[in-house]
Amino acid sequence: MTMKKILISTLVLLFTGWSSATADNEDGSRLWLRLETTNAAKAIKGVKGTAMTELQTYWKGGSVELKKEKGIAGDGYTIKSNGGKIVISAACDAGLLYGAYHLLRLQQMEASTASLDISEKPAYDLRILNHWDNPNGTVERGFAGKSIFQYPDPARMKMYARACASVGINGSVLNNVNAKPEALTTDNLHQVRRIADMLRPYGIRVYLSINFASPIKVGGLDTADPIDADVVKWWKEKAKEIYGLIPDFGGFLVKANSEGEPGPQDFGRTHADGANMLANVLKPYKGIVMWRAFVYNPQSSDRANQAYEEFMPLDGQFADNVIIQIKNGPIDFQPREPYSPLFTALQKTPMMVEFQITQEYLGASNHLVYLAPMWKEFFDSVKPASLKAMAGVANIGDDVNWCGHHFAQSNWYAFGRLAWNPSLTSEQIADEWLRQTFTGEQKFVDPMKQVMLDSREACVNYMMPLGIHHIFAGGHHYGPEPWYAPKGLRADWTPPYYHKADSIGMGFDRTTNGSGNVKQYPESLCNTLNDIKTCPENVITWFHHVPWDYKMKSGRTFWNELCHKYNDGVIQARQFLTTWDGMQPYVDCQRFNEVQRRLRVQARDAEWWRSACLLYFQTFSKRPIPQDVEHPVHNLDEMMKFRIPITMYENPAQGYTK
Ligand code: GCU
Repeated sequence: MTMKKILISTLVLLFTGWSSATADNEDGSRLWLRLETTNAAKAIKGVKGTAMTELQTYWKGGSVELKKEKGIAGDGYTIKSNGGKIVISAACDAGLLYGAYHLLRLQQMEASTASLDISEKPAYDLRILNHWDNPNGTVERGFAGKSIFQYPDPARMKMYARACASVGINGSVLNNVNAKPEALTTDNLHQVRRIADMLRPYGIRVYLSINFASPIKVGGLDTADPIDADVVKWWKEKAKEIYGLIPDFGGFLVKANSEGEPGPQDFGRTHADGANMLANVLKPYKGIVMWRAFVYNPQSSDRANQAYEEFMPLDGQFADNVIIQIKNGPIDFQPREPYSPLFTALQKTPMMVEFQITQEYLGASNHLVYLAPMWKEFFDSVKPASLKAMAGVANIGDDVNWCGHHFAQSNWYAFGRLAWNPSLTSEQIADEWLRQTFTGEQKFVDPMKQVMLDSREACVNYMMPLGIHHIFAGGHHYGPEPWYAPKGLRADWTPPYYHKADSIGMGFDRTTNGSGNVKQYPESLCNTLNDIKTCPENVITWFHHVPWDYKMKSGRTFWNELCHKYNDGVIQARQFLTTWDGMQPYVDCQRFNEVQRRLRVQARDAEWWRSACLLYFQTFSKRPIPQDVEHPVHNLDEMMKFRIPITMYENPAQGYTK
């Protein structure tokens, strides 16, 4: 070893802490599919296809037969075993593939496959990832590198497709909802075809986000009015071109008249006019339109009311191949939101939920936040059967480990599993994921499962407890900036619009005396939310302007409760790091160190959130921070000057660095 090398290894040890090599280093690129190749070629019989190839490559057990059986619905499958032989049956190739992955999952989890009698059927026909990828390779709110679709590498595409299919995901929208018109140029469509060809063997269809003004911007027309004959003709020709290249193309995702994107309202038409025109164009090819309900404008006195106000009058007016895609909450993927009232209000319109897997508002790829509990909370209020489909904004990029944080992979996994079966518990999913991704060693699985299960509430605690929302830094949305309100900026893009802190208290009055938002919920829930005494405390400032001295259920004043919640979050984040440090014997060095580094950032960030928020809100409450709460170690003035110089396409490598 040269002197230089000795020096480098010493430095590595110093900076990473002592690591006893427990296993070969892993880079996370195999996700939860850490299967070793075997040669089971002879043992697998029946229908040829991807299911057979996967089993031939990875199955270590006895003989398996793959059978087509018409009576099984949709993508469902059965797995039956009796003694040495296993039979997987399904009506279609995708069903057989899902069955094969089920079997491989059991193998990885070291579960017995001796007497299986499994019968599975997905809750939704459409289980789809939304990639917010731009043509230049950036990923909006992407924290794991650049787009995997810009230069689609066949090996990476194959791994992506296998990972998706292994959890039942069967659709990918390849580009950003803020769609560039060039998504529909002939050149791009050829690229889409190449990707579609790579994903098809895994049962995944491709979709595109479209820019509603494409007839003008790509087609050279002077309007994109959905009832204009030339416009309709243009879309028809485009659809013909697309389906000529990609016969199983899934359809369009549309963000219209939202945050500056064009839409039918620019021509005096409604969302229904726009969506139905596209739906008619796609209908002959069995394509669908997913039309987003994420709309709000600066004139409204309450952004949370807007989607309901715009879409309720259109209930029942959409074509049958349109699905309205609604974010889980009425504002925007906050750490905690009540469900969007549209879900219980719309009666005659097919709906799908849009979750955000990428952690735009939950610490990007620096914080360990397992999102299944958040999505399950949504399903506690909204019946899964009331929806047609489930979409998730992907957290995938070209980072070696796909998602930036090794634990962020669990959110991709959990999204797929819940889209298949929303009644799975967060705990079951975490358990499966940990065993496959790391090890089945109980001394690892138990504590880390607890960390995962606690992580979302911890994040709510250290970022915005008790219903606080949208107090993030402007632009990139990383870190606290409850004071952010540059002159001239739209009010609904600034935190004070949401927290409304003043000398009396804080919170947005959405009661019947305030913005009336509670009235958008079913009557009994409306009454519960409307009364500060019955409103759940975890959303109390979402619905009420809560006085600083208001008595909470704990007996504390609201201000003291707020201080305790922030404090709890910091303690939890630190505990996650301590727990992880004890996991070193069970994890390879590389992943151990990489997760440890991010957990340290998370613990520091939690402290940053607590100091910034408590010191800032204290300027309104004018009350002391209780003695049994750790006091802020930072200085508000300094924190108010601190900016992280990143765009919305990057993960901040460090959090607060002062
Ligand atoms: C949020 C997010 C944007 C995104 C938008 C959307 O506002 O910050 O980056 O474009 O949601 O979902 O359309």
